[in-house]
Amino acid sequence: MSQQEQWRSKIGFILAAAGSAIGLGAIWKFPYVAGTGGGGAFLFIFLAFTLVLGMPLLLGEFMIGRMGQSDPVQTYGKLASKKWNIIGKLGVFTSFVLLSFYSVVGGWIILYIVKTLSGELNGLTQDQYGELFGKIISNPFSVIAAQLVFMLITILVVSQGIQKGIESASKVMMPALVFLFLILVIRSLSLDGAIEGVKFLLVPDFSKLTSESILFALGQAFFTLSLGVSVMLTYASYLPKTQNLPRSAISIIILNIVIALLAGLAIFPGVFSFGIEPDAGPVLIFAVLPAVFEQMPYGMLFFLAFLILFLFAAFTSAFSMIQIIVAAVTKNDPSKRKKSTWVIGILIFIVGVPACLSYGVLANVQFFNKTIFDLMDYAVSNILMPLGALLISIFVSWKISKEDLFNELKQGSNIGYVFFYICYFLLKYIVPIAIIIVFLDAAGLSDWILSFFK
Ligand code: PFF
Repeated sequence: MSQQEQWRSKIGFILAAAGSAIGLGAIWKFPYVAGTGGGGAFLFIFLAFTLVLGMPLLLGEFMIGRMGQSDPVQTYGKLASKKWNIIGKLGVFTSFVLLSFYSVVGGWIILYIVKTLSGELNGLTQDQYGELFGKIISNPFSVIAAQLVFMLITILVVSQGIQKGIESASKVMMPALVFLFLILVIRSLSLDGAIEGVKFLLVPDFSKLTSESILFALGQAFFTLSLGVSVMLTYASYLPKTQNLPRSAISIIILNIVIALLAGLAIFPGVFSFGIEPDAGPVLIFAVLPAVFEQMPYGMLFFLAFLILFLFAAFTSAFSMIQIIVAAVTKNDPSKRKKSTWVIGILIFIVGVPACLSYGVLANVQFFNKTIFDLMDYAVSNILMPLGALLISIFVSWKISKEDLFNELKQGSNIGYVFFYICYFLLKYIVPIAIIIVFLDAAGLSDWILSFFK
């Protein structure tokens, strides 16, 4: 898309940015990292990070994106000096690695849709759903084919240009997703023993927190809001000055929290009712939800609808990831768009193949006790994204003047100085310090450093 091109409507931008945010992160990943990380305590820390660190960062990316009106790499150089382009390059790299394993999970959803249509998921017991998932994701041919299909659709949509592809469909799909989740939550809550699941998710037991789970909560907060990768910056670069940035940021954050909570409330009652371990990992949603749906009238039909919306949510996030790589490589030149999207998309697919095989033939190839898939996820979510967020917070608050930022934010909104100043303060001091502390803590260095002060 050329720089002159812009979003077709105000709601188009919000839907696309919310579409980038809401995806596998809130629906698939949140329940299982919350399950592994201690339930309620994890949720509490995740919410705190989302509001205190995520909110100012999202606004920060929005402000410099609209200010720079350029691609994700050159925005930094344009607003400061060229060496800062490294933040955008890091984002493009992160996005590349991210999409290569994200598309694997996108492929799993496609396989589930096929299996639901063929009736293979009908009438199984909960254990059988778990086993079936294991079987599905370990078959090398079908997972690779499904990942390829996911990437091909992503490439096709994005190579057409963002407006046609993303804006229109989101208007229907997003509310439909929330609606279906509501039905699912009601169903889940009426299962025997559901209350244990609700307690697990909502009542914090802080003794369960570890340095590692705090790092996961930090990564999760950035992951679900697509922060630290310059995606939100890029989407804001296509904005006119009339868009209300604070309102957009707040709506995206609320929607994202609501979806994550709904996903948690749909899944944990089932987890406890069926006697599954909450820390079962990536299998969680795929093993629990079919069993919850199975017990409803027309359950498999609802499950199919859910999978389609889930896949749509994954696509709108995937579009944003490839979009920034294409924007950076083509420098927003529309004539190069098609070819670059194809080349980049195919490369991402190839890099993703080992991750795709991590649950089957390559399961024993492990580094640091992690499969290739887990390692890529860990590197992106817990290292690269927080690192990107750290650099962006430093860039926005230390390199751009407070007045310029406030002037940018004021355009399109009548936001007061107090709100701005709180966000600015958080961005300048709290965000970088918090990220550094969580990093040091997770690396086991905080005790060592503290010992010098004792
Ligand atoms: N926010 C997306 C999700 O929760 O699924 C993931 C994501 C998209 C992360 C785009 C980063 C990004 F740049």
